[in-house]
Amino acid sequence: ADERAVLKERIKRLLKEKQAVLVAHYYVDADLQDLAEETGGCVSDSLEMARFGRDHSAKTLVVAGVRFMGETAKILSPEKTILMPDLDATCSLDLGCPADEFTAFCDQHPDRTVVVYANTSAAVKARADWMVTSSIGLDIVKHLHEQGKKILWAPDKHLGSYIQKETGADMLLWQGSCLVHDEFKGVELDLLKAEYPNAKVLVHPESPANVVAQADVVGSTSQMIAAAVNMDADTFIVATDNGILHKMRQAAPGKTFIEAPTAGNSATCKSCAHCPWMAMNGLQNLADVLENMKNEIHVDPAVGVQAKRSIDRMLDFAA
Ligand code: 13P
Ligand code: SF4
Repeated sequence: ADERAVLKERIKRLLKEKQAVLVAHYYVDADLQDLAEETGGCVSDSLEMARFGRDHSAKTLVVAGVRFMGETAKILSPEKTILMPDLDATCSLDLGCPADEFTAFCDQHPDRTVVVYANTSAAVKARADWMVTSSIGLDIVKHLHEQGKKILWAPDKHLGSYIQKETGADMLLWQGSCLVHDEFKGVELDLLKAEYPNAKVLVHPESPANVVAQADVVGSTSQMIAAAVNMDADTFIVATDNGILHKMRQAAPGKTFIEAPTAGNSATCKSCAHCPWMAMNGLQNLADVLENMKNEIHVDPAVGVQAKRSIDRMLDFAA
């Protein structure tokens, strides 16, 4: 514990010295989330991380999350220095949607409006018409559907089919998935609900359909936290990365949060629902990165300009 306290103090000093700001996601280490808040940075979902980074006056942002979050920050603010604790922190959705295959897929369907999830590379965003995050994807597709547009959606198949069901839009889906959320189990969730009949179920829409179907609230990480605070219930079953429980417990003290079942955590594994790439962010590598101003994110400027158009569409829609 002492070692962590020393590292936290060192990071606070370095953030000041380097005039940098820390932007963290709810799935990273609890100490990093607290540090971000204590030092005037932010901890939030993908949409708010993007907006906060864009609007902050600091010249250097340290993004504690996964690569697409750092790239989005760079695309929105090419003049800023964007650092990440570990540049190898990727995402199974990003890995499962290579730009060349995705471009070929889009080329085969020129009549469709291309909507991609934030969890993609800069090159994939550059090929898209719109980028969306989990907090606003539903509203944007609804809007496009009302305009009579047919959609090509990538990469998350669960989020895509959830939005398809809710909006009735004509959506052609790329078949990607998140390796964390894909593991939540509908039958086991049903059994757990029977044990806690008064619990409300909060589900991230990257989860499989038979899990989403049992939700009281489906939403982004920020929306799930807001529901935990605002809903009139004492107990919640939470189907998303368990890094989120730190903020839920802080924001709604006295309420009880239970992890939704995955294949592993029922028997052998106590923390299966944790993203291995989010877990690469730690106090030590954060301190090292700040000390040496290393691990900078670069995005090809031409690709960045193209990708920015699809991100700006979302931010303008959200405004
Ligand atoms: P949010 O935008 O809901 O924070 O989701 C990001 C993510 O990677 C979920 O797995
Ligand atoms: Fe990607 Fe899933 Fe990790 Fe989120 S939790 S970064 S979607 S692999």
